[in-house]
Amino acid sequence: MNGSIAGEANPRELPARRGLVTSVIDGAPVTDGHTLPSTNPARLDEVVGEVSFGDASTFVRAAESAKKAQESWAAIPAPIRGRAIAHIGRLIEDNAEALARLVTAEIGKPYGEALGEVREIIDTCDFFLGEGRRLYGQTVPSEMPDKQLFTFRRPVGTVAVITAGNFPVAVPSWYIVPALLAGNTVVWKPAEYSAVNSAAFHELFVRGGGLPDGVFNVVHADGAATFSGLEQALEAGVIDKVGFTGSSAVGREIGALTGRCLQTACLELGGKNPLLVTPSADLDLAVEGALFSGFGTAGQRCTSLGTVIVHESVHDQFLTRFNAALADARVGDPTQDVLMGPLMDAKFAERFEEFLTWVQPHHVVQAAHGKISEENPRNGFIGDSSTGLYYHPVVVDGVRPGDRIFMEETFGPIVGVASYQSLTEAIEMANAPGYGLSSSIYTTDPKDAFTFRDKISAGMVSINNSTSGAEAHLPFGGNGKSGNGSRQSGMWVLDQFTRWQAMNWDYSGRLQKAQMDIVELTPDTTFRL
Ligand code: UN1
Repeated sequence: MNGSIAGEANPRELPARRGLVTSVIDGAPVTDGHTLPSTNPARLDEVVGEVSFGDASTFVRAAESAKKAQESWAAIPAPIRGRAIAHIGRLIEDNAEALARLVTAEIGKPYGEALGEVREIIDTCDFFLGEGRRLYGQTVPSEMPDKQLFTFRRPVGTVAVITAGNFPVAVPSWYIVPALLAGNTVVWKPAEYSAVNSAAFHELFVRGGGLPDGVFNVVHADGAATFSGLEQALEAGVIDKVGFTGSSAVGREIGALTGRCLQTACLELGGKNPLLVTPSADLDLAVEGALFSGFGTAGQRCTSLGTVIVHESVHDQFLTRFNAALADARVGDPTQDVLMGPLMDAKFAERFEEFLTWVQPHHVVQAAHGKISEENPRNGFIGDSSTGLYYHPVVVDGVRPGDRIFMEETFGPIVGVASYQSLTEAIEMANAPGYGLSSSIYTTDPKDAFTFRDKISAGMVSINNSTSGAEAHLPFGGNGKSGNGSRQSGMWVLDQFTRWQAMNWDYSGRLQKAQMDIVELTPDTTFRL
């Protein structure tokens, strides 16, 4: 059975209705500011849309409007908000191919993956549409008679969501769907280079959910304007929670800013995700997993593979097969069936060129690297490499703890390979970079699998599966440099977008003092059989 939601449409065809992309506050477009084009990274001369960018004050106005709309949004019964999420999910399903084509056009994600990304929004809506009829609290026994205790989940208030563009529509839905469902209003600042996608997403949400004005505002602004707007909005008390997906460096700044305002942000940051290959591993399976998680999405997932840590006894065999699989992989036009397309945007291409300078003399790089061009071609390239931000996928063997390539996130199509002797050493190496998002071990020995699960610092562990491709209803998030312990997805994310309220109700008609006015039973502590 084919589970894909793909139809027959041409993946290059874009929706016709694409006007100027603007911030939207209180249901109205806002065009104060400057306009820049958003281009297709596979065909740089193709403008996907023109985007009007605002400044810090645009962000503050959006936050004020969302704050005003929050009380009446929270007053709509949760099951009705759940129905809104249901309708949003169905509308996205009916527009899945058009949205996926926009993802492919604006960030160069291969079309098959883009359809998977849209599926992730639908999965998230499917999960949360029923939550509107749960949002359970508890009844709790009291230590005193004629008194009852309860807990209630309350919305946090107005949420600022700031997201990266590598998952321009799926990751925003991880925040926005549960936030709205729980009775919060939202101000969303998407990545500048995926603004056209965010406009489509925003319109599908507002129309599909029938959302009142101000419940979901979107602001297009650069990082500096957003940060300053966020700071002002936090200080003015119109933002109650921040969700951020992006780099560890910016995550630290947002964590500090929210901390000063006595808030904890939901932070989903970078990763240097390890994949262990043990002597008992099925090597072909490990190669397949390493290939997908290393080079799918051109290595631009936060869950992308960083370093393969392979036992010395199978190192050479693994490397030979990995290099061969990579040489055979389909690279090129993302509207075709390829493993990887271009990098998302010029800023990522520039950074990737810098990562390549981290290769040192003790490293071994077998194939060509750098930008794919007529002078530096890739065998079997699909399409015309000269039109886009296409880079050779690279495997760097011989990396070791302490090397920059080993220690730091290298967002892009580059994978390090290191070898180990004992499992303890391998796990130490896996934890050494200090991130802790995703991780993987290939083994047929349950003892290795459980030891790895126990000792690895990562929030997510795969056994005989790649580091990327988490399902949308398991807790998603990391430790160390990958986050502050917050978790997204499934029931766990509700703790980000609701606060517990405890209520006690004493119907005894007198003041019963907790811990003091309690009945004590007398145990016979000296009794023996
Ligand atoms: C991300 O890169 O920020 O687990 C999210 C995965 C995807 C989500 C990645 N479902 O790889």
